[in-house]
Amino acid sequence: MFHKLLLSILVCFSFQTFAANKNTTRVDSLLSVMTLDEKIGQMTQMCFSTITLDGSKTLDLNVDNFRQLIKQQHIGSFLSGSDSYAKWFEFITAIQKVAVTETPLGIPLIIGIDHVHGANYITEGTIFPHNLMLACSFDKALLEKVANVTAIETAPVGLSWNFAPVLDVGRTPYWPRFYETFGEDTHVTAEMGSAFIKAYQNVPEIAPYKLAACAKHFIGYSDPKHGYDRSPSEIPMQTLHEVFVPPFRKAFEAGVKTLMVNSGELNGEPVHGSKFLLDTLLRQQLGFEGVIVTDIKDIERIVKMHHTAATEKEATLQAVNAGIDMYMACNSFAFITDVKELLAEGKLSISQIDASVLRILKLKQELGLFENPYPSKQLLEAVNTQQNRNVALEAAEKSIVLLKNENILPLDNSKKILLAGIGANSKRMLNGPWSYDWLGAKEDQQPKTMRTLFEACKNTFGEKNVILSNTERIVATKDSKSFLKDARKADVIVLAIGEQPYSEFMGNINDLTLDADQLALVDMAIATKKPVVLVLMEGRPRVITKQAADAKAILFAGYPGIEGAQAIANILSGKTNPSARLAFSYPLGAGHTIPYNYKPSEYNIYWKPDTAQKWLFPFGHGLSYTQFEYADMQLSDSIVSATGTIKASVKIKNIGKIAGTETALWYMKDEVGSLSRPIKSLRHFEKVSLSAGESKTISFEIIPTEHLSFPDKNGKMLLENGTFELKVGNQNKKFVFKTQ
Ligand code: GLC
Repeated sequence: MFHKLLLSILVCFSFQTFAANKNTTRVDSLLSVMTLDEKIGQMTQMCFSTITLDGSKTLDLNVDNFRQLIKQQHIGSFLSGSDSYAKWFEFITAIQKVAVTETPLGIPLIIGIDHVHGANYITEGTIFPHNLMLACSFDKALLEKVANVTAIETAPVGLSWNFAPVLDVGRTPYWPRFYETFGEDTHVTAEMGSAFIKAYQNVPEIAPYKLAACAKHFIGYSDPKHGYDRSPSEIPMQTLHEVFVPPFRKAFEAGVKTLMVNSGELNGEPVHGSKFLLDTLLRQQLGFEGVIVTDIKDIERIVKMHHTAATEKEATLQAVNAGIDMYMACNSFAFITDVKELLAEGKLSISQIDASVLRILKLKQELGLFENPYPSKQLLEAVNTQQNRNVALEAAEKSIVLLKNENILPLDNSKKILLAGIGANSKRMLNGPWSYDWLGAKEDQQPKTMRTLFEACKNTFGEKNVILSNTERIVATKDSKSFLKDARKADVIVLAIGEQPYSEFMGNINDLTLDADQLALVDMAIATKKPVVLVLMEGRPRVITKQAADAKAILFAGYPGIEGAQAIANILSGKTNPSARLAFSYPLGAGHTIPYNYKPSEYNIYWKPDTAQKWLFPFGHGLSYTQFEYADMQLSDSIVSATGTIKASVKIKNIGKIAGTETALWYMKDEVGSLSRPIKSLRHFEKVSLSAGESKTISFEIIPTEHLSFPDKNGKMLLENGTFELKVGNQNKKFVFKTQ
């Protein structure tokens, strides 16, 4: 015992002296004195539920369990939990103290959390719209503000690792994690994801606290063949490189510190066991150097779900050889035992382990955890402020899409409104999933300081002008009498319909059509002959085609967050002029979901002319209370070479009577390619705010290597001679690319 104590004093001394030198020396020297158990413990991440009293996420620390995990299993990381700031502060202080002062090397813990739409696992946290909604803002500066508030409310309490952003491209709206994506477009996903990452990882307001972002879920997770979560994807390598790789490449360029692996299978391989995907593609070809963490219990799933290993030990060998650095083991120690046995059997090498541990120690070093392992009391003053709530209101207002408006919106406050639907008086429908609980907390666990749509409408239109109809009873009893009685008193009926919150596989569906009860309620409202306004609170575009035809106005609000109700009311009343556009295609029918950038061959023009309606509302669609006119598109040249550029410009004018913000979407079409090319591809977007009558000329520089090339199946970029067409608004111009 004495020798061990002496050794640990010597080590700490040498480690501290090294600390004064370069950071890499510091972690290198630390690695050189770590035992094998300590190394493997750093590669193991456990769920807090293994150490809370009741196995839930509430943070009643079971100190004995915890001490045992740290001192005997040397666990280096934990994840997940949900409680108040005070409890988080107390909990993380306690567990870091054990790690830092009661172990030989005092290596601090790194705590991971899914703050995917704000500080959503902290009772007082600010909750923003989910990514799908934020993407509809087409406003990167807005996303930077959202990420900044999230980081300010997350890192100082000791949560240094945010498992966000999702960079999966939402290619099928059936996927229950569609709302976590930035929609169906690669360029939007890449731009929004990298904006989040830069903002998460650069927050001077909370120095020395830092937050690591996590690019997830690598790769091909979001286009499962049958739409179910964690089910197999079959994606040709050329499509993988063209559609799914760019957001991750952009994330690496943005300096993302960590990456999480896709739980599913791609082309027959569980990604967690794929050396091709995690080493050849991710490390070698794409050059990612950060920490690769598995998704939850995914080594176990290689055996139980993918059946590409007969035992967990074999699965561990596959995953470590594929290149994972840290296993999100959650509540099992098998990984620790298996790695030790595989090393003893010579199937794994200590150099593999050391490489992973070094990355993990460097991550902790970069986050300042060695110097600053404890939460900050004083920085917690900056959380849950009105200023943060204002950002949430702005984010919601800029993310809500006005899809249809037959001269009914904005409503003036003389109108009597009948409000009904599952979202009419619900907070959880606004905050959505991943809010205080994985599936979205129950109504009575939602913030008291938050308004429902009913409360916000009363606040906006006046108590006397808003009637709430008891939807549950109507739908359950099909009792239209009471509804019709309410409707007779109203000038307009606002129905908040959509999807109760769900997460991951809990949201798997077989039919994209909205459920019959809610459609029946819409039919009942339409039968009253009063104008009907639909407010869609949903995680994906549920099919409402028949009812949409008779609705006078439709808003897509998604899960708009803690200020979502007031944002909806502000748009209904005209206080806010909507400016969002769809970042996804809204399907016409449940059986056929085709993305905006479909291949011409995918839409057989011999069946129906290409002008036939393909969607209820197309990608990029969104209305304003004013109108914008595009004119005078110009190109600086009609031919361009690989080393040249063309400057495109267009004039946008607000021809309406009120100020508004237009989203300019620049699309490129490659008329002929050696591989079939999309009908059009978004290449650039920007917001343009204009007062009534004002016009602005905006421009976009075409850079051939960036905007005209596409990858082959090996990811090699092809730049081919030919004619291209650039479109923005109702303007388009052609030009030729010709290599020298
Ligand atoms: C979940 C999700 C992943 C999340 C992780 C930790 O299963 O797939 O996105 O970050 O587990 O909660």
